[in-house]
Amino acid sequence: MERTLSIIKPDGVSRGLIGEVIKRFEANDIKIIAMKMVHLTLDDARKFYAVHKERPFFASLTDFMTSGPIVPMILEGENVIEKNRTLMGATNYKEAAEGTIRRDFATDIEKNVVHGSDSHETAAVEIGFFFNQFEMNER
Ligand code: CMP
Repeated sequence: MERTLSIIKPDGVSRGLIGEVIKRFEANDIKIIAMKMVHLTLDDARKFYAVHKERPFFASLTDFMTSGPIVPMILEGENVIEKNRTLMGATNYKEAAEGTIRRDFATDIEKNVVHGSDSHETAAVEIGFFFNQFEMNER
């Protein structure tokens, strides 16, 4: 079983898309094993997106990610890293496949509703960023 981190971003939360996103995960045999709602500080957002710190969109991205609460979740399932990325669709919603979360709901390349880890290594780091061992509901 694999795990990944998903985040419903501030645009998804403020537009009432939490249920819609979760429904798509559950309908695709993805199990949510941890979930919370948090409002990041700018310092938190800069740490989380540190890999993008040299990119021209870094300041705007970190401002956006601190503009309201977000919902981080740990997803579990077979091949869930790839599966989640398929359900989300491409970062740029204009290039995202039909029926994906971003194609259906994103409004620009930044306000793209969801984030998902892109590899095993990133998933481990990103899960550890938001959740401690007591919150992982290990059975
Ligand atoms: P995410 O998957 O969370 O990873 C980095 C985020 O930066 C991305 O989704 C977008 O929300 C945001 N972003 C803004 N502009 C760009 C861009 N030109 N290329 C990639 N990501 C961008």
